[in-house]
Amino acid sequence: MPEIARVGVCGCGLMGSGIAQVAATSGCDVVILEAVQSALDRGMAGIKKSLDRFVEKGSMHAADRDAVLGRIKTTTNLKDLAKSDLVIEAVVENMDVKKELFKELDLLLAPHAIICSNTSSLCVVEMAAATKRPKQVAGLHFFNPVPLMKLVEVVKTIVTDQTTIDSLFAFAKKLGKTAILAQDTPGFIVNRLLVPYLLYAIRVFEAGLASREDIDEGMKLGCGHPMGPLTLLDFVGLDTTYYIAEIMFDEFKDPMMAPPPLLKRMVLAGQHGRKSGKGFYDYGA
Ligand code: CAA
Ligand code: NAD
Repeated sequence: MPEIARVGVCGCGLMGSGIAQVAATSGCDVVILEAVQSALDRGMAGIKKSLDRFVEKGSMHAADRDAVLGRIKTTTNLKDLAKSDLVIEAVVENMDVKKELFKELDLLLAPHAIICSNTSSLCVVEMAAATKRPKQVAGLHFFNPVPLMKLVEVVKTIVTDQTTIDSLFAFAKKLGKTAILAQDTPGFIVNRLLVPYLLYAIRVFEAGLASREDIDEGMKLGCGHPMGPLTLLDFVGLDTTYYIAEIMFDEFKDPMMAPPPLLKRMVLAGQHGRKSGKGFYDYGA
């Protein structure tokens, strides 16, 4: 089983930037691909800020932070990912965009390379089918914020081979994460449980049953959650949550998974949560 030393990351948003950071922190050379330079600049600023927090807390030396940053290269040209042993795709939650990327990566990468998606809810085997290496395609689902959350779901499709799964478990361990094995079903393990809960919190708010603050306080103080559901929705991104809900509802036809009307309207109004400055709460500029 060859070691994964060179990692490509597609997308430098909330998740791609975090994934690139933890991969570089573990010693991998990382190249991040973005559609636009401004997203790379924003993502790299987030990585620096996160590493600075570790340095300030004393859990990382300043020299190690600089070394981590030195291992990350950024690009808007897909060809710069050619030498990757593993590419982790973390672009928008849209099947057509992801399939196009998988197709191009398959033509570009060396035969041994593995391609993974960080998708929250989409069918991974559909992305695998866009390549000629479906046995080397899997889901690698990280959690937000990636530098802090310990879990990774390794998603095995009905055609992923065991060598690929073993490599991904070894890679997760190298990153200091705990990996769990999930099947290629919408939402895998965690989102299958989390997404209906988050959507229900919106319904409770939408129905006027409680204030946003009381809903959040209730779940924090009553159940010991680190964030209330509406704060967590703003943190995940309302746009991303809306796409996930649509995908899960489309697969299951379960009303629990259906995006509530308020969520759709907030997304249409550009209220995407913390990243846009407004969601259930205001975050200023
Ligand atoms: N990088 C480095 N350090 C960070 C950081 C980051 N990105 N974010 C926070 N920190 C540090 C802070 O500096 C702080 O350090 P000190 O304790 O030394 O002061 C510490 O982490 C705690 O941060 P805060 O005080 O700002 O806030 P907090 O105590 O609420 O912790 C949190 C933040 C860890 C995010 C916590 O609120 C939490 O666990 N929230 C729930 C997150 C969650 O549920 N994630 C899953 C989302 S679902 C998903 O990801 C799947 C999907 O497909 C949608
Ligand atoms: P985001 O909106 O923060 O970032 C997505 C980035 O992808 C944007 O910067 C965009 O410019 C870029 N992009 C779009 N098309 C691209 C392309 N063809 N090539 C390169 N870059 C491209 O989204 P996010 O929250 O980071 O989510 C990314 C993926 O991770 C989604 O599949 C999402 O479901 C999943 N995910 C999200 C979370 C979360 O909490 N937000 C958690 C786990 C998994």
